[in-house]
Amino acid sequence: MDESDLGRLSVSIVDVADGREAEFHELSKTLRTILESRGYGRFATFRDEAVPTRYYAVRQWDSTAAAETCHRDVDVQKLTSKMYQIARVTHVVNGVRRPDPLRLMLDDRRTGGVEPDRRAGFDRRVADQGAPEGERRNHRDRRLGPRRLRASAGEVDLVAAARRAREHADAAFSRFKVGAALETADGAVITGCNIENATYGLTMCAERVAIFKALSEGHRVFTRIAIVVDSERPTPPCGACRQVLWEFGGNLEVQLANLSQAKGTHRLKDLLPLPFDARLL
Ligand code: THU
Repeated sequence: MDESDLGRLSVSIVDVADGREAEFHELSKTLRTILESRGYGRFATFRDEAVPTRYYAVRQWDSTAAAETCHRDVDVQKLTSKMYQIARVTHVVNGVRRPDPLRLMLDDRRTGGVEPDRRAGFDRRVADQGAPEGERRNHRDRRLGPRRLRASAGEVDLVAAARRAREHADAAFSRFKVGAALETADGAVITGCNIENATYGLTMCAERVAIFKALSEGHRVFTRIAIVVDSERPTPPCGACRQVLWEFGGNLEVQLANLSQAKGTHRLKDLLPLPFDARLL
């Protein structure tokens, strides 16, 4: 495999829920057939020898365009959505990310290349790019950041992913388990759960675990986050998480839910009016 192939490889770790392995194999088989018959690329799964319910799902795309078409394919979206119901999926290699010229400019600025100011990447997330009239987004699709690749049909069930992530919460002190699932602009889902600490103050919320994981894996543009707790009352993100989500995710859609029901959808700018961010520095 030469270097150009490596650039077109996506790899995920798939932790299949107990008793759901047969469904996982069935879904993988169907995904493989679709990827191959529709000319998107190749798909293979490998079982982790040390962890029997862990698999590595490898997609080798025929081209970046083929990968993007595959992400938009409603049949693939439906299957992916089913996969998230039965497994925790962690994206470790995203081979279809394209360099974003604005991003490169801002990174350059951050390292002192273009302008000697202290602004970080935030202005990239909120800058009005002035879409032409016919391209303006309205209603639900009106968001800062790039157009979402997923249509609503077959959209990944973020809440289900957050429910599964919540099962990993380490909440020995509060007993208040939280799960979060963050969607990136190219359709990856990165999850988090709260992790508590005996000193209490070092506790980390589910939302920040999710976004820090995502950032550390190279994701930079986000569209939605789902937050799940076992409570009848809607539980929105704490103030610290609102700040971090705003700075790295912009005006995200925030879906709240408990173990069985949706508990409302908000926009982050409504949860954090009059925010402090890098534009003020
Ligand atoms: N928690 C979160 O994970 N997210 C929030 O936005 C609110 C609070 C966690 C932190 C702590 O482990 C527990 O919930 C009780 O505060």
